[in-house]
Amino acid sequence: MNCLVLFGVLLISHQFSVGLLLKRYSCDNYVLSWCQLHNVTIQSDRDLQMVEFPKVLQIGFLNGSIPHFSHLMNLGLFKAGVLRVFARGTKISRLTLPNTIEQLYFRDNDIISVDIEPKTKYSMKYLRIHINKLRDISNLRSLVNLVELNLCDNLIEHVSFDTFAGMTYLKQLLLCGNRIKTISTALNINLPNLYHLDLSGNFLFNGTFLARWYFPRLGNFSLRDNLLTRLDVRMFSDRFTLLKILDVEHNPLDCDTYQQLLKLVHQRKIIYNVDKRVCAIPPTILPRFIPTGNELDAAQGGGDLHQQIKQLKERIYQQVKIINSQRIEIQQLQANLSSLMEQFDLVADTAAHVNDPF
Ligand SMILES: *[C@@H]1O[C@H](CO)[C@@H](O)[C@H](O)[C@H]1NC(C)=O
Ligand SMILES: *[C@@H]1O[C@H](CO)[C@@H](O)[C@H](O)[C@H]1NC(C)=O
Ligand SMILES: *[C@@H]1O[C@H](CO)[C@@H](O)[C@H](O)[C@H]1NC(C)=O
Ligand SMILES: *[C@@H]1O[C@H](CO)[C@@H](O)[C@H](O)[C@H]1NC(C)=O
Ligand SMILES: *[C@@H]1O[C@H](CO)[C@@H](O)[C@H](O)[C@H]1NC(C)=O
Repeated sequence: MNCLVLFGVLLISHQFSVGLLLKRYSCDNYVLSWCQLHNVTIQSDRDLQMVEFPKVLQIGFLNGSIPHFSHLMNLGLFKAGVLRVFARGTKISRLTLPNTIEQLYFRDNDIISVDIEPKTKYSMKYLRIHINKLRDISNLRSLVNLVELNLCDNLIEHVSFDTFAGMTYLKQLLLCGNRIKTISTALNINLPNLYHLDLSGNFLFNGTFLARWYFPRLGNFSLRDNLLTRLDVRMFSDRFTLLKILDVEHNPLDCDTYQQLLKLVHQRKIIYNVDKRVCAIPPTILPRFIPTGNELDAAQGGGDLHQQIKQLKERIYQQVKIINSQRIEIQQLQANLSSLMEQFDLVADTAAHVNDPF
């Protein structure tokens, strides 16, 4: 009985003291007028109830842990008048996207999911969620005010470009360093302001997605480090009339595409990057390489894995290159063989003539 009462008193006094504690964060230091907070740890919304953030326009979290960057967290930042947020090395697995923030730079946070309310209006203009663990980005379609979207170095395997169809202000779209094998587009897509598109470091092997893209201002386009063998160069030339920089290096392009590309970049004075190819004899059989992706599906997240995948891709790339060069060699051998046959025929004829006893 006594015991119970004591327990009750302890419980009340504990709640009372927690209720009185107001945690007021203050900036550890400023970098380029960004207020920085180190090692902030907010385990749950309960930790947030008595938290006050510094009243600044831009705030940055370094390291620490905020497993769910929640609605209540966003409310706290809104109350402080924050417009721009960055988080670097902060462990965040779930991010509820704030609708009052214009710039959000989240880097290296282990983010798996981003909650976005389809009916909410978002002010977001500059969004970077790079070096994280996103797989599905289709719910980003309501962010129609975006000017910059950087989703490099996540775990994305498929992208529907319909996701970006409403983003008419978009200038920069970076999807590099993912595992993108397929890009789909149900409708034609007009992105009138898109200047910089980066799809480098993925597993693209089929470039037919270009057919539905209308990006009249595209100036800088990277398809570097993929598995593309063919590209519709005519489409490039017709659609992307303002193209200034094109990077297609580290793709096992066939000779046809290679030669057409060279013609295009020279005609239009485009700054380009492409692996040098020897295409003396145009191959009659085009290299076909279709990755099954099984090797990659077997793998799941992790830093070592990134390295392994990189090595695997490098090997695939080297093998495709070897196959291409062997194909050319085979054609040369065939040519040499048929010319040898001709010579042999000639020699045989002469020999037959010499040996003719008559
Ligand atoms: C943050 O934590 C690290 C180690 O966990 C410590 O070395 C560092 O001093 C802390 N920084 C601040 C500003 O508290
Ligand atoms: C954050 O963590 C990283 C790696 O754990 C460390 O290198 C860095 O110094 C830390 N930064 C701060 C400001 O504590
Ligand atoms: C062009 O794109 C590449 C790859 O995304 C980037 O590294 C480079 O800085 C860009 N250059 C310009 C001038 O936009
Ligand atoms: C490339 O994709 C298109 C459309 O998805 C498909 O029709 C075509 O067969 C594919 N080509 C290869 C070589 O896989
Ligand atoms: C084919 O013949 C040419 C000249 O006779 C020679 O230089 C070349 O090495 C030969 N190619 C192969 C693949 O043997």
